[in-house]
Amino acid sequence: MATVDTLIRTLHLMTAGVWAGWTVFMAALVIPAAREGRLGADGLSWMTGRFSLFSKVAPVVMFLTGMYMLGQGYSNDALMNSTRGNLVVAMVGLWIVLSAVTNVASRRLTNGVEVGGVEQATSDAVMMFSVAGVVALALLFVGGWL
Ligand code: HEM
Repeated sequence: MATVDTLIRTLHLMTAGVWAGWTVFMAALVIPAAREGRLGADGLSWMTGRFSLFSKVAPVVMFLTGMYMLGQGYSNDALMNSTRGNLVVAMVGLWIVLSAVTNVASRRLTNGVEVGGVEQATSDAVMMFSVAGVVALALLFVGGWL
């Protein structure tokens, strides 16, 4: 049904934009700001908490909407033997990585702030959030290529 298809595709795209956008925002702005002492423990923990919550909801939305679109337009053969199919498979692989990295990174950051303070926690978190940011951009790249 055209309307349902459009709604699902729109939900997929909007969630992709917000999730990838927040991930890059955390990596490029929030972590550096906290690391330079421009953001206190309260603000950092609050933002990380919200990010963490969204990073639990978004993977589910992406999975359900993505699988729906897969069911509508892709056979197993198309997934394996066409460029678009290969891009969707790459999308699923990156989705697994982003889901894991965003959740592990935010849990570690929240625990780290409690144990060792903002400076120590953000120094430890830089790498993981950078990886998450790159993976988020890669996902948008793959989506744009589709
Ligand atoms: C289990 C996870 C996922 C599955 C199964 C999936 C599957 C799909 C499918 C089947 C399409 C439509 C391809 C077509 O136009 O024929 C699509 C489009 C797209 N996906 Fe995903 N996806 C997943 C996760 C993600 C994630 C995590 C992101 C980004 C954060 C993302 C971003 C996009 C974008 C930007 C498009 C392009 C939409 C459009 O052209 O209208 N996807 N995905």
